[in-house]
Amino acid sequence: MSDRSLNKQTLVVHDVHNEQYHGAVTMPIYQNSLFTFHSYDAFTTAMNDPLNHHLYSRGNNPTVNDLERRLALLEGGEQARCFASGMAAISAAVLSVIKSGDHIICIDQAYGPTKELIGSYLRKFDIEATFVDGSSMDNIQQAVRDNTSLIFLESPTTLHFQLQNLSACAELAKSIGAATIIDNTWATPCYQNPLSLGIDLVIHSLTKYVSGHSDGMGGVVIGSSERMKHLGMHEFLLHGGIMSPMTAASMIKGLRTLPLRMEKFQENGLIVAGWLEKHPLVAKVNHPGLSSHPQHHLALKQMSGSSSLFSFETNIPLLQMRCWAERLTFFRIGLSWGGYESLITVHPCQRESSSVVRIYVGLEDPYELIDDLAQAFECITEFEGVRR
Ligand SMILES: Cc1ncc(COP(=O)(O)O)c(C=O)c1O
Repeated sequence: MSDRSLNKQTLVVHDVHNEQYHGAVTMPIYQNSLFTFHSYDAFTTAMNDPLNHHLYSRGNNPTVNDLERRLALLEGGEQARCFASGMAAISAAVLSVIKSGDHIICIDQAYGPTKELIGSYLRKFDIEATFVDGSSMDNIQQAVRDNTSLIFLESPTTLHFQLQNLSACAELAKSIGAATIIDNTWATPCYQNPLSLGIDLVIHSLTKYVSGHSDGMGGVVIGSSERMKHLGMHEFLLHGGIMSPMTAASMIKGLRTLPLRMEKFQENGLIVAGWLEKHPLVAKVNHPGLSSHPQHHLALKQMSGSSSLFSFETNIPLLQMRCWAERLTFFRIGLSWGGYESLITVHPCQRESSSVVRIYVGLEDPYELIDDLAQAFECITEFEGVRR
């Protein structure tokens, strides 16, 4: 049976017995910066082809390579390269497909620093960007220019949870000779495999669900051998934002339980989102896994499951909702997501005197999380004019 046809949970758990490592059950951590050679010939061969030899750990390190191999298999890509953070992976992927004078189309709700990179930082290389509401293909189509070389996607987005039609975006990009990159962090390789829908490069912030324990940072770019070879020689080797072997070992540990944890995250997230949807102080829940989500059919078409980060909108003003968040016991106020612990952030809404609450549901008992949310809501039920 080839590794590609294995169930995802088997794939992340299974290691072949390897005499090279004395049958060690886990891959050893190669904590070395360089590799030495018994002959000058062997050294020269490696120097001439650094992407395919163990020469220097800013290039190939067996522990990092093992994580890359597993992530490529999970995502259905030919090759992967790991980076020190999700942003390092995004920067490398973007820079690998553009040149000075190009134009980029980017989703207007993409992760903030991604937008800053594409919309501000790259201006110094004479690169222009158009930000579009990607829930409609017409918006993306209308933004196309003669020099559009990249369509950058993030589906779903991580505050309003809007989707893009990935196969339609890939088709459009191919017809104009542009590349497509997607930030697939939300769905993880367990629930969405955009390469199979025609997308060129997939990036993940491994800091989130893959690490899974809020104790490590990393990123990955996955794609065809051809695209990854180009990225490997330039944005990977030259920029050097690599992942350390210790971090790779910790990520492999997270990966071993990723499919299992995702099942639980999906279940917990839907239980809490379903409860919120019925709460009188909640105006709207933004979760692609709920049938009330306007793009639920598209979600079912291009994803095989959902994760546990979502948001809700309420007619309670921002300051009141921030006090509400402070009353929670199990949801802690913090920026990231994908770990074991539930988190919450409160954001301004386009509609004045309303708020958007981003909820990350962790691995606690979902009914105890609901009790926690309910007790915080009880403190503000007397507030005037907040019901939907
Ligand atoms: C959707 C998304 N993509 C990318 C990133 C960046 O990842 P990292 O923090 O690992 O650089 C984040 C971080 O929060 C994110 O939420």
